[in-house]
Formats: sequence, structure tokens, C-alpha cells
Amino acid sequence: MTTDQKQLIKATIPVLKESGLLLTTHFYQRVFAHNPELKNTFNMGNQQNGHQPTALAMTVLAYAENIDDPSVLLSALNRIASRHTSLDIRPEHYDLIGRHLIASIGEVLGAAASPALLDAWTAAYGQLASLMIRIEAKLYATQVTKPGGWTGWRPFLVNAKQNESSGVTSFRLYPADGGPVADPGPGQYLSIRLFMPTLNLLQSRQFTISNAPNGQYYCITVKQAAGKDSSLNGQINRQLLDVIQEGDRLDVSLSGGACPMAAPAGVPTRPAYPSGCPMHQMA
Ligand code: HEM
Repeated sequence: MTTDQKQLIKATIPVLKESGLLLTTHFYQRVFAHNPELKNTFNMGNQQNGHQPTALAMTVLAYAENIDDPSVLLSALNRIASRHTSLDIRPEHYDLIGRHLIASIGEVLGAAASPALLDAWTAAYGQLASLMIRIEAKLYATQVTKPGGWTGWRPFLVNAKQNESSGVTSFRLYPADGGPVADPGPGQYLSIRLFMPTLNLLQSRQFTISNAPNGQYYCITVKQAAGKDSSLNGQINRQLLDVIQEGDRLDVSLSGGACPMAAPAGVPTRPAYPSGCPMHQMA
């Protein structure tokens, strides 16, 4: 990026900070209007409660603020990359998302969005996207070279569904292809993708793995959502508990890195369960 471009980026940070949420809300509306298939990739519950638009806005703005030394953001970017790899986000997605983001900046800023300013943001996004693509490529490469490793969505079968205690049920999941599964690293987690009939969409949710590595299967444990919990995560839990049965297929993807969220207080981590299935779901 040129010095002039960096100056232009810095000059627009206050405006974008002020309208950051407006920008990313507009951006997501644009993405879903033009590419409705991506509703299957994003958690539509996070769209409703504003978590995802805010997260993306804050990251893009934090990057802009640190354009002279983006290395200070590396640990945050690693965490995001881990989440992205658990959802099979690929380089071609970055081009598409970048086009919508730059168009949205133009639409939200209106006459203030000069061609030079849009070029500067295109360069800044390109720089951030390349960095993230590189981090994600490394995570994917590490995953796929492990014995039993894979990337993207792999069909698994529910081999056992077992009540652990009131409102808590464990699922034992074997790959449908009969192959081995990679031993997860510390804090590595699963994404489960399910068809949600109420939304007519595929939706995913992250769960930690709490059984000891055995090369053959993973376990997740799902808690009953509170009665009034109408969030998407609550609905996914209900779908798993009320509808999914032994023998059913689920798509499973492994995150590229450590769990981005701490385990709830009092919940032991994976090595505490040498043979059983108890585990916790991510908040
Ligand atoms: C430079 C570009 C990007 C930035 C700055 C960014 C930023 C973020 C952040 C901050 C999160 C939240 C992470 C967490 O909570 O742990 C996130 C999650 C996510 N990102 Fe990105 N992202 C980018 C590109 C993409 C692309 C290209 C896609 C593909 C369509 C994508 C899809 C997702 C999805 C599906 C989630 C999970 C949130 C959900 O389930 O709704 N992101 N991203």
C-alpha cells in the first residue's frame, strides 16, 4: 500500500467507526441478497443478534487502525482463522466477501467515497485477506497431514446417543466413510452442521471434544436449551436432542486451532474423560 493510501484509510476510520455497525449490517444484507447460499455458512442467529456484524466491523477497523504494524493483531487473527477453518472458509470466499465489502463502503459513504478512497480500502482489505488466507492455509495443511485428518465437511454417523443426566445427552460420532479420525490437539473443537427445517438452511454450531483421542470417533454432549431459549443455538440443540437419532448423518468439521472460548467453570477438559463421552458445548 502507498503512504497516500494509508493516510486515506486513517482519515476514514472515525467515520467508519461511527457507522461501523451500519456498514457491516448493510454489508451482510448485500451479501445475503446477492449470494443467498452463504446463509448456510453463517450462523443466522448471530446475524439477528448483531454479534457477527459487530465482530467483522471491529476487526476491519482494528486492522485499519494498525495498518502500519498489523502484527499486533496476530493472535486475534489466529483465533478468527481457527473459526474460519472450522467452517470451511476458502480463499475464493475472500474475493467475494471483499467485493461486497468495498461496494458497501461505497454505498454507505455515498459521495464521500472517492475512487481513490475505495482503491485504498480495496488494497487494505486485500492485505488483510492475504494474511488470513496464509494463516488458514497453514492450519488446513497441518490438519490434512495428520493421520485421519481432513478439511471441510465430512459426513459422520451418530453411533450412540446416550442420556448422561437430566437434560444432558452425549452423541458418539463415527465417520461415515469408516476411516480413522485425527487426534485433536489441546482445545481443538468440532463444528456440527445440520439441516434446520424451520429455516430451510444448513446451520452449524461448535462443540468441544471431550473424549480421549482414540483414532476412531468423537463425542459431543448437548445440553437441553432452556424452555424459552429461541436462539439459533437453542434450536440447534433441540434439533439434535429431539430429532437426530442413532444412525443419522451429520456433517462434521474440525477446527484448525484451539478453542476460542473458555470451557464453562467446573467443566473438566478432555483428558479428564479417558473412556466416556461427557463434555460441554461451547457457549
Ligand atoms: C478479512 C476478512 C474477514 C474478517 C476480518 C473476518 C472476521 C471475522 C470475525 C471477527 C469472526 C468472529 C470470530 C469468533 O467469534 O471467534 C468471523 C467469523 C466468521 N466468518 Fe469471517 N472474516 C473475514 C472473512 C470471512 C469470509 C471470506 C467468510 C466466508 C464467507 C467468513 C465467514 C465467517 C463465518 C461463517 C464466521 C462464523 C460466524 C457465524 O457463524 O456467523 N469470514 N469472521
